[in-house]
Amino acid sequence: MNSIRKSWTLDPIAQNKIELMSNNQPSFYVTTPIFYVNDAPHIGHAYTEVAADVLARWHRARGEDSFLLTGTDEHGEKVLRTAQANNVSAQDWTDKLVHDAWLPLLETIDIDNQDFIRTTEARHEQNVQKFMQKLYDTGFIYQGSFKGAYCVGCEEYKNKGDLVDGTGEYEGQEVCAIHSKPVEQLEENNYFFKLSQFQQPLLDFFEQNPNFIQPESARNEVVSFVSRGLDDLSISRSKEKFDWGIDIPWDDSHITYVWFDALLNYITAIGYGSDEDKFEKYWPATIQIVGKDILRFHAVIWPAMLMAADLTPPKQIFGHGWLLVGGEKMSKSKLTGIAPNQITDIFGSDAFRYYFMKAIAFGSDGSFSWEDLSARYQAELANGFGNLASRTIAMVNKYFEGNIPSPKEYSDADKNVIAVAQKAVSDSDLAMQQVAINEAIAAIWTLVDELNNYITVQEPWALAKDEANRDRLATVLFVACEGLRVLSVLLSPITPKATAKLWAALTEGKLGELSEQILQDAGVWGQLDKGIKVSELEVLFPRIETEK
Ligand code: MSP
Repeated sequence: MNSIRKSWTLDPIAQNKIELMSNNQPSFYVTTPIFYVNDAPHIGHAYTEVAADVLARWHRARGEDSFLLTGTDEHGEKVLRTAQANNVSAQDWTDKLVHDAWLPLLETIDIDNQDFIRTTEARHEQNVQKFMQKLYDTGFIYQGSFKGAYCVGCEEYKNKGDLVDGTGEYEGQEVCAIHSKPVEQLEENNYFFKLSQFQQPLLDFFEQNPNFIQPESARNEVVSFVSRGLDDLSISRSKEKFDWGIDIPWDDSHITYVWFDALLNYITAIGYGSDEDKFEKYWPATIQIVGKDILRFHAVIWPAMLMAADLTPPKQIFGHGWLLVGGEKMSKSKLTGIAPNQITDIFGSDAFRYYFMKAIAFGSDGSFSWEDLSARYQAELANGFGNLASRTIAMVNKYFEGNIPSPKEYSDADKNVIAVAQKAVSDSDLAMQQVAINEAIAAIWTLVDELNNYITVQEPWALAKDEANRDRLATVLFVACEGLRVLSVLLSPITPKATAKLWAALTEGKLGELSEQILQDAGVWGQLDKGIKVSELEVLFPRIETEK
């Protein structure tokens, strides 16, 4: 008979001790959903990817052992049908999409992932089977019959309440509320997972771990969903219908339901069933980023699966909002998708990353518009940050032959810059810990604004006219350069390309690599006082001609 452990609360102190004992470096394991390979990526997919990458880079900069996992979800009916429509085998189709579309996406938006898992890889398939067998042996899986609706677009079993009246060509039929397309009626003998047994353990878990589901609105939705009761979940499909999936280990006339297969990628990629040390090191995941449309899979089914296998659920599931077009979720199936490189070809990957992380509160929906992107690029990146960097370095070149001068006595205005810089470091770090990415960027931007204001008020070009002001000029330019140093470190997770250029121009290699800087120490003042010669800085955010 199966048994479920009573308490799954993580003791943070004990947990931290284990992490510190293992390698002195706490681990930070962050995942993205794995993407269906039925189509090429659009900016909604890239949005999830960038958010996870920014968090991963931030925690790496804090000195943590940061591991970002992403990948592709390759089984299921949706992918199979797309392959058939293109007259190729499912495997050929997924290979093509992964190599032509999904791996290149990571380059396009500059993702620094530590692994990329494909659900068709042996390391995944074999360990999914181990997991399934374990649940079968412990009585969490049983055979039954299923009758009901299924949406291939969602790859999800649907209840009556999930369906709406169709319009246009589907007038008179019930359609999926998300895809606006008719659902399939299934009647099969399937294997079921005893999800219903987990209602109370899940509610207890949510209560004991109030940060498990974030943001708050997502948590409330899931708690009320689970409170209404859970049905057991069909987790296999008969091969008589289609066979693009992982065989059920004890019955090869069935394949694993694609979501059951897909969710397990988060543990098979880090060694579940194959590399115990690696698994111990990274599991439970620190944070799993998902779009709100797939929140229930991750906040209900996934922790229940783990509990059934006597594994700890992840520390946090974060459900972000949607990118909207015309008030609706952007999607390829509704032909509203914009390819990420349509944006990066014009504005570059840094601007893409900055724009989506700054313009939309992480957790809320947001509308994309070319006008907004273009206006923010010009005002915030080109004029705000880029221009600050280029004119500061140009003045060091012009007035001090490229040598960053040593500061003399600090005035109140200088001390204020130092205080703003230090507050930017601590405020942005705190906001990132709370996954408030846009607030973290806003905190960093207080320093951009302060430095621009400082230069306007101090007028170094006026000071340069009189030799008597030489010391003051030296101090002002030193303070501005130090401010840029702090900005390079804080912005490196968000705009890695621009900050790498700025770091190279500003430090002459004398402070080590940008990637070696410890973020929490960025506010330690005076690091550039080492007789450094700056080099030319190419324009960080070039002017973009837009059609009027
Ligand atoms: N394959 C499943 C996930 C399995 S995870 C074990 C899946 N794939 S997906 O390709 O359809 O979507 C992947 C992610 O992209 C989801 O988090 C989804 O929310 C996100 N987005 C898809 N369209 C989006 C927007 N328009 N806006 C923001 N994110 C969007 O679901």
